[in-house]
Amino acid sequence: MDLRKYITNSNQLEEAKKLIIEGVLGYQPFIFSDNLETGVGLEFEKGEYLGLAYYPDIDKELIDKYPRLKRLILDTKYFNYFHKANAVLSRLYDTFIDEICQIMGNIGNITFLDVGCNTGYFPISFALKGAKEAAGCDREPNFSKTVNFLNQILGTNVIFLDTHYDSRTHTIANCKPYDVVTCVTVLMHISDTLFFLNTIGSLATKALFIWTQLNDDAHNSIHYPDEPRGEYKDDKFPLCFDYKIHPSVPLLYKSLELMGFRKFYEIPEKKEIFYAYSLNGCSFYKGILALK
Ligand SMILES: C[S@@+](CC[C@H](N)C(=O)[O-])C[C@H]1O[C@@H](n2cnc3c(N)ncnc32)[C@H](O)[C@@H]1O
Repeated sequence: MDLRKYITNSNQLEEAKKLIIEGVLGYQPFIFSDNLETGVGLEFEKGEYLGLAYYPDIDKELIDKYPRLKRLILDTKYFNYFHKANAVLSRLYDTFIDEICQIMGNIGNITFLDVGCNTGYFPISFALKGAKEAAGCDREPNFSKTVNFLNQILGTNVIFLDTHYDSRTHTIANCKPYDVVTCVTVLMHISDTLFFLNTIGSLATKALFIWTQLNDDAHNSIHYPDEPRGEYKDDKFPLCFDYKIHPSVPLLYKSLELMGFRKFYEIPEKKEIFYAYSLNGCSFYKGILALK
């Protein structure tokens, strides 16, 4: 999302830099200025950690002081690739968003919830398109700061809910139902796949959109990695598997049917906008919009 025309003063750029250093801005593709850009596009393409923020004028002492910044700040020599890859990712996100809105019709009457919303790219986009209500929630509560910052820049009113999916209770506490629930690149981080699906499917009164890595088995299955990643230190077995969890396409469709979804769209529809990421060897990379 190109925010350059919305950035009207240097305080906004300083705030974006602060959020990057804090670690609550980086994953989603945003351009703040010619010298400040974020996004995971290049890492998606290359399948390795290369950096999430182009921030060439960062104080190098800060990087020495906070070693975690080494993983976040892009080596400037990669900028051209980084910029192009984030444009591809933005285009893919925007295609999902446009096609969901087109299929759902008059979105001025529709409420949206994005589960695992990160810094709010999806709810912000739905809000900009005139959604009746656009909300998001995430396991990292401090993303609320970034969502509020983006709301302020864009004049949107996205609500960041202070809740997330809890695998111990299989709930998203205190969350009301929404017409459309979206969930992008989150399912593959959740150990209890079918319970998670059931929770987000139950919250969706009209439609559920999922984009995740799906394995190529022709039967119902879920693949787990050989080793847990261990991102969340308190998540012991059986919740320790927090990445590369890949259900099969038939299992996802069967689950959606069993939850009462009746009509399915695979997005993006147009072939020319497909972009094949090396999604850990998973060849099915479309999003599925399931309607009740
Ligand atoms: C790979 S990122 C995807 C972010 C965003 N949906 C996107 O596609 O741009 C996964 C996100 O899911 C969030 N997440 C992980 N476990 C979660 C949970 N149990 N409930 C809500 N969010 C979760 C992470 O904090 C992270 O922001």
